[in-house]
Amino acid sequence: MSEKNLVVAFGGVSPEHEVSVLSAMQVLAALEQSTYELIPLYISKSGKWFTGETLKDLSNYKDLPSLETSASPCAFVKNEIGATLLQETDKTGLFSKPKAWQVYAVVCAFHGSEGENGAFQGVCEMFNVPYTGSGILGSSVGMDKVKAKQLCEANNIPITSSLDFYESDWETLQDTILKEAELLGYPLVVKPGNLGSSIGVKKVEDEKELIEAVETAFRYDAHVLVEEAIQPLMEINCSVLGTAENNRSSVCERPLGDTETLSFEDKYQSGGSGEKGMASADRIIPADISPELAESIRKLAMHIFKTFDASGVARLDFLVNAETEQVYFNEINTIPGSFSFYLWEKSELSFKELLEELIEIGIKKHQTKNGRIRSYETNLLSEKAIKGIKGLKGTK
Ligand SMILES: Nc1ncnc2c1ncn2[C@@H]1O[C@H](COP(=O)(O)OP(=O)(O)O)[C@@H](O)[C@H]1O
Ligand SMILES: [Mg+2]
Repeated sequence: MSEKNLVVAFGGVSPEHEVSVLSAMQVLAALEQSTYELIPLYISKSGKWFTGETLKDLSNYKDLPSLETSASPCAFVKNEIGATLLQETDKTGLFSKPKAWQVYAVVCAFHGSEGENGAFQGVCEMFNVPYTGSGILGSSVGMDKVKAKQLCEANNIPITSSLDFYESDWETLQDTILKEAELLGYPLVVKPGNLGSSIGVKKVEDEKELIEAVETAFRYDAHVLVEEAIQPLMEINCSVLGTAENNRSSVCERPLGDTETLSFEDKYQSGGSGEKGMASADRIIPADISPELAESIRKLAMHIFKTFDASGVARLDFLVNAETEQVYFNEINTIPGSFSFYLWEKSELSFKELLEELIEIGIKKHQTKNGRIRSYETNLLSEKAIKGIKGLKGTK
């Protein structure tokens, strides 16, 4: 059993399932010549966990049902000494011993939903295995557009003016919401509170369009955000690498879309060759903006990374008014498409080196966590047993 089994986790119940498969294939290719034993952990669209060599080949993903039959179901388990293994779960017979790999670290290559919102990160925490990227807090706040805005407001991070409401508010207070929207001023942008990849995001010019877009957004999420539209719009992204305490920023990029609002198609389906994922979308690197503007965005990106308690590599997206150069923070992607490797390549870091640094950060965080006192030797239950059940009253 190799000591350095690196589990590459991807897929998941997410609209960005396929994008995650592409990111994972890029990770496997970049680390092919590394010292790690690469173990795929693929979560299917229905949430089942699989492993096996067949999952390392992109061409096998054309037919997902047959991929599932050729791969092995698996799960995390704890062995007798408390180490975490990724173990096959279908081979339980006397003569077919399940394969198992002791987990050295997990590369989280999910995009969207439970893989990026802290849920899978929570599974890694429970199993006490090192993993790449942000922890539970940064991941979950980063995913929630409304909570992210509230955190920014409290920390003087520039954001667009907005209003947010739940479906029940929309049913009972629609007139008030429409009046507030009018005050914000059209055009407005409607977004589901928790999705990614521009799904359900719509720029609207008037009340009729707003109502339609809000109703569409509620098909995806129970919480909807309506914000002022920035125009003329220039989008600038910047990646940050490190920990909340110590991080650095990459060069900036300017993604280009066919329309003013980048759609799912612009991001992932343009540029042909799917294997390149995000890197194939049209973009200008370094962004064609003044050095002063680039520098102020890079500084702001590092500040936001820290504020969100992010870790590993993130991509921070900004909306810039192209006339006034006023900068607004739009969102943090705690697992950016293709790990933003194309931005770090321009900052003199290869994809392999970037991944190695991500793994190292995950290992260090894990060591720090385990180096702290996390449980107490005293057994409260044995003391309580002496006092009897009545002694439990008021205990907390
Ligand atoms: N306030 C805004 N003004 C103008 N365009 C916007 C605004 N917010 C978002 N957009 C456009 O919509 C796209 C998707 O919105 P975003 O908030 O990034 O959602 P997602 O999480 O789905 O990527 C952005 O890349 C940008 O093109
Ligand atoms: Mg976005």
